[in-house]
Amino acid sequence: MARKAVAKTKAAKTGPATKAAKPAIVKPVYVLNGPNLNLLGLREPEIYGSTSLSDIEKMVATHAKKQGVAVLCLQSNHEGDLVTWIQEARSMAAGLIINAAAYSHTSIAIHDALAMLDIPTVEVHISNVHKREEFRHYSYMSSVVSGVICGLGVKGYTLALDAILADLTK
Ligand code: DQA
Repeated sequence: MARKAVAKTKAAKTGPATKAAKPAIVKPVYVLNGPNLNLLGLREPEIYGSTSLSDIEKMVATHAKKQGVAVLCLQSNHEGDLVTWIQEARSMAAGLIINAAAYSHTSIAIHDALAMLDIPTVEVHISNVHKREEFRHYSYMSSVVSGVICGLGVKGYTLALDAILADLTK
């Protein structure tokens, strides 16, 4: 016997005729880079590629601008600077992208600072740290960020920005 198809359609609730405009993202997205990333382009290009940090920052800023958002790009070789900027981001940033570089694998101070954020936060690694030495396999950042992008090269930064903007506008 042929079964009757049952259409499970509920009457759609009708909302307002036009969608309300999404509020603009006024605060910048912070893009923080840690130790030795100032030498990208020169540093182990077979692992990190030939793009310099300033080129990455320009790329992220251009990508952000197209979407009507600003970025604030900062780099330091000092752990305390990164902690200070993350603390600042609590009130000043809409979201945060962080490549803490080697501090990812060592820094409880940066972990603790990230744990206090309640904005979307993405950890980026240019290289696939899981394919590399074992000491790079653990990150103190990963348990306190919204998501992790690793091994996709410098494109990881713009992908991280897209993920943050999707989160902020959902
Ligand atoms: C890195 C990976 C880290 O293990 C390393 O210490 C870095 C860069 C990356 O982007 O692939 O400095 O975070």
